[in-house]
Amino acid sequence: MYLRFYNLKEEPFSLSPDPDFLYLSEVHREGLANLRYGLIQKKGFIVITGEVGTGKTTLINALLSEIPQEVKTAFISNPKLKTEEFFFLLSRAFKLGNGDNKAKFLINFTEFLERLDKNGENVVLIIDEAHCLPEKLLEEIRLLSNLETPHSKLLNIILVGQPEFEKTLDHPGFRALKQRITLRYRLKPLSKEETREYIKVRLSRAGSKDVGVFSEGAISAIYRYSKGVPRVINLLADRAMLTGFVKETKVIDDKIIRECAAEIGFGNAELNRVEKDRLKKNDRETKTGRHLLRAGLAFLILGAILAIFWFVSLSNAERQKLITDLTILFSGELWEK
Ligand SMILES: Nc1ncnc2c1ncn2[C@@H]1O[C@H](COP(=O)(O)OP(=O)(O)OP(=O)(O)O)[C@@H](O)[C@H]1O
Ligand SMILES: [Mg+2]
Repeated sequence: MYLRFYNLKEEPFSLSPDPDFLYLSEVHREGLANLRYGLIQKKGFIVITGEVGTGKTTLINALLSEIPQEVKTAFISNPKLKTEEFFFLLSRAFKLGNGDNKAKFLINFTEFLERLDKNGENVVLIIDEAHCLPEKLLEEIRLLSNLETPHSKLLNIILVGQPEFEKTLDHPGFRALKQRITLRYRLKPLSKEETREYIKVRLSRAGSKDVGVFSEGAISAIYRYSKGVPRVINLLADRAMLTGFVKETKVIDDKIIRECAAEIGFGNAELNRVEKDRLKKNDRETKTGRHLLRAGLAFLILGAILAIFWFVSLSNAERQKLITDLTILFSGELWEK
C-alpha cells in the first residue's frame, strides 16, 4: 500500500522468514556459522535455540538456500508428529519408498546413508520448532544418530527451537542425547546499534534509496518497545510506514512509533510496566515508613521498662527526692510559661 509513497519495490518488513532480507548481526553470524559447521561436520547434534521471533527459521532458510545440491536434506518444520508419521516424512524427503513400516524404513535408510557416505556425500536432518517434539520422537531421533561408521556419524542432525527445549535436554531422561550434542548456540535479540542497522538493511533490500525513513527518535522508540526482537521490529516498522503513508509523512518519528505501539498493544504493556514500577516504589516506601515507626515504638517501650526498673531499684529517700525534684522542675516550667 505504501510501497510507491516510499519508493520501495517490495515490503521491507514482511513477517515471513525470507533469507533475502537476512541481516547478519553478531549472533546471527555466529548462529549461521554453527549451522554451516553442523552441515560439514559429521559429529553429532547441533542445537540452536532462541526466544520467539529472534530469527531461528530465517537462519535455517538462509542455510537451506546455500546448501549445495549434492547435500541431501530433510527439513521438518512441524515436528508434532507420531513416530510413524515422522518416518513417513523422512522416506518422502529422501525418496526411500512409502516408509509405512519402521523396520523396512530403517533398513532402507541405513543402506541409503552408507551409500552416500561411500560417495563422500552428506545427509542432514533439520528440525525446526524442536521444543514441540514429543519425547518419544526425540528418543527415536537420538537412535537415528547411532547410525555411524567407526569414524563418523552417517547423519547430521540440527535441532532448532525455543529456549524451553534446553530444559527438555537437561532432563535426566535425555542425558544420552545431551552427550551427543557437539554444539549449542542461543540466538539473542539485537542491540540498539544492530536494530538501527537491521532497519536500514531491510529498507535497502526492499529497494529504498533513502534508508533514513525512520528518525533517530523513531529507531530508539522501536528498540525500546521491541527490545531488539526482529519480529516485533518488523511489526512496528511496517505499521509505522502505513501510518506515515496515511499521514503523508516521509520521515517517521517517535510519536508515530508510540501511536503504533499503543495500537498494537505494546503501549499498554509499557504503561502497565511503568505503573507496576510506581506501585512497587510506593510499596517499598510504605514498608520503610512502617519499619521506622516500629523501631521507634520498640525504642520507647524499652526506655520506659528500663526507667521503671531503675525507679524500683532506688531507696525510699532517693525516690522521695526524685519526686520532689521533678515537681519543682515541672512547676518551674509551668511558672515560666
Ligand atoms: N537476522 C535477521 N535478518 C533479517 N530478518 C530477520 C532476522 N531475524 C529475524 N528476522 C525477521 O523476523 C521475523 C521473525 O523471524 P523468524 O520467523 O525466523 O523467527 P523465529 O525465531 O523462527 O520465531 P519463532 O520462535 O516464532 O519460530 C521474520 O520476519 C524474519 O524475517
Ligand atoms: Mg521459527
